This record gives sequence, C-alpha cells and structure tokens, in this order.
Amino acid sequence: MPHDRIDAVLRAELATLEQEGRAKGAENVLTGFIQVGNGRGPRYWIDGKGPFLRMNANNYLGLALRDEVMRAGHDGVERFGAGPGAVRFISGTWETHVVLEQRLAQFHGREAAMIFSSAYAATIGMLPQILSADSAAISDALNHNCIINGMRLARPKLRHVYPHLDRAALEARLADAAKQCRRAIIVTDGIFSMRGDHAPLADIANIIARHDGDFAENILLVIDDSHGVGAFGATGRGTEEVTGARADILVGTLGKAFGVNGGYIAASRAIVDYLRETAPTYVYSNPISPGEAAAATAAIDIVDSATGRALLDHLRRMAARFRDGLARLGFETLPGEHPIVPLLVRDTARTNALIAYLRRHHVLATGLAYPVVPKGDEEIRFQICADHTEADIDECLRVLSQFEGRAS
Ligand SMILES: Cc1ncc(COP(=O)(O)O)c(C=O)c1O
Repeated sequence: MPHDRIDAVLRAELATLEQEGRAKGAENVLTGFIQVGNGRGPRYWIDGKGPFLRMNANNYLGLALRDEVMRAGHDGVERFGAGPGAVRFISGTWETHVVLEQRLAQFHGREAAMIFSSAYAATIGMLPQILSADSAAISDALNHNCIINGMRLARPKLRHVYPHLDRAALEARLADAAKQCRRAIIVTDGIFSMRGDHAPLADIANIIARHDGDFAENILLVIDDSHGVGAFGATGRGTEEVTGARADILVGTLGKAFGVNGGYIAASRAIVDYLRETAPTYVYSNPISPGEAAAATAAIDIVDSATGRALLDHLRRMAARFRDGLARLGFETLPGEHPIVPLLVRDTARTNALIAYLRRHHVLATGLAYPVVPKGDEEIRFQICADHTEADIDECLRVLSQFEGRAS
C-alpha cells in the first residue's frame, strides 16, 4: 500500500529542519585513506575526492589505524566469527567479551565492568534502572544527548537541570531533593563534547560528601567520560585522573580514543550485577562483535603502556600547538589541555563560511551554528589526534591564517 500521506508529512518536517538550519544534511562518505609519511599523518578521501586532513575525528590516539589493534580485531574474527550470534545471556558471550570487561575494570580500578553496543546504549540502558521512582536526577545543562534521553526514559520523582558547571545551583537542587527523595543521582559528562571543558568532579564530590547523609539510599555520581578516557590525563584515565575524584558509575566508549566501537560501564560489583540483569540495552541487544572486543583489549593494553603515555604526551603537545597557533592568529578559543579545541566564531554566517572555506582547502572540521547552539556560541570544533604531526597542525593553521574573514 502506498504511504503517500505519511511520506508527505515526513517530507514537510524534513524541509522545516532544513529551513531552520538544524538538518545534518548529506553524509560524507569516506572512501579511503593513505598513510602519507615524511612527517605527515594520514589523509582521507571523501566520495573519491581528496586528500583531506581530518580534524574532526574522535580517534584521539590514532589507535583505529594502528597495526596491533587491527591485527587483534582480525584474530578475534578468525577465532570466533564476524558477529556474536546472540545476546549475552542466550549464547552471545564470547571469551573476548569477558577478557575485555576484566581489562576495563582493572584499567579504571573498579570491581567490575560491563560492555554495551555503544556508550549511548550504556547510558540510556543504565539511567532508567538506577533512577528509581523515589530518586532525584540532577543533570548539567550541556550533557550529551544520551543523558538527556536516558533521563526522559526514566521515571524519577524529580528531574533537575542545573546551568553548565554551576556548583551552587547543583548544591541547591540537591538540598531541595533531600526533602523529597530517598536517592539522588548526579549525572554529568566528564569532558563536554562541544567545548572540551570538563566537569568539576572534585567540587561535586565535596558537595556529595556534605549531603549524602540526607538520602536514605545515598547520592551516586554518574559520569559519561566518552571524550575523556584515553584522551585526557597523564595516563588516559580521563576526567577522574585530572580532577582526582571518582564517579560511582563511569560510562566510557570504545569508539573514540580506543579507536574501535562499543561502550561500557565501570562500577562496583553490586551495580554491575544489577545492571546485567536489568538494563534492557544490555539484556536484549547484541554485544559488540568478538573481534571488536579483542581489538578494544589490544587498544587498552597500548594506552596502559609506555607507548600510550608517549602518544598522550604527543597529543597534548599537538593540542597546545594548535591552541597557541589559533591565539596567535587572533582567533578566540577556550583554554585547556583536551584535544577538542573550539574556535569560537560567535556568528552563524561566518561559521558556515569558514567551514566551507576549510573544506575547499581540504581540511575537515565541524561547524556548530545556530540553532544547534545558542546565538553567540557558534563555533568550529577541531579535534586533534595523536596521528597529527607538527606539519599537519601547521598546515591547518596556515589555511586558517589565509581566511579572509579572519579579522572581522
Ligand atoms: C559524551 C558522549 N557520550 C556518548 C557518546 C556516544 O558514544 P557512542 O558512539 O559509543 O555511543 C558521545 C558521542 O559523541 C558523547 O560525546
């Protein structure tokens, strides 16, 4: 039967998204890459055209293209096949999944860890289970979409969103929740993905210490450090390492700095045991493939070694070189050490012009314009990777230096 009436409605909604500037538009299809060598990192082809310098990948340590990681993935496929073949509790738990979970728990110094098909699946699977009907959910205003939707799926007694990084507002919301709820869950990104800034975990831990006694079932701190783990901190332990504080539930991804795919939660044994039985995106959805799990374990082994610390060191130096270069060119950016480097343009037309200019000069970056971000917060997001070289960073800066709208 033709669906002409609903198709017309959906097309009209798509047209509205486009008119409002909120559509993501046609996707870039990556059709290949080369390892250039001679002091330059990899270059990519899009729709057969290139080479492009990719300044918008989450592959912060360059592990997606690293031999040891790719080889571990191949071996996993050869030993166990291309896919898991079932969900975990039926017959889809392979040795590489279990090894990876043990390695993640050890890496993060936790009693246990469990993997999901993505960090998104981990968060939307976990939050509704941990937010009981007697709970308060307290969340930073700039949290990632998976937290926003996880909170929507949950049915807690209270939902509070506090202004970005506003400790006083967070504490006021907690004090308010103490009068009505048995449990409180504070949930925040570790690294915020648009700006590369991070949650003040040590301050939040102090706030929790002041109020925990007011809740019959405690206050739990949940962080999603998808952009922090493997990219931030001297040994890649992310926002926890940089702030010296720890979450009760840590969500991470295997698809950014670890260079593979999938997500995970690291926590106490009690929390992980509970979520294995109750989180629907774990119970009723396939895990990552056995090969991906083997590749991810190899990636963690690299991060947790002298090689990993050297990669992190190089990454920090390249991010600093880029931040300093932007400042020298008179662009506005935010201070910090994280490889997400925002160039604050603060104007929609100029953001779009700069993104198009970069593309014409074979540099890939991400433009965030109104209404995706509020007016005045328009930015270009650059992401530095350990496989960028000094020459790559300087090439991007040279292109930016010749942008004619630079001084406006
Ligand atoms: C903070 C945060 N959490 C979760 C995700 C999703 O990670 P995954 O691709 O593993 O679902 C992202 C991805 O952009 C993110 O920025």
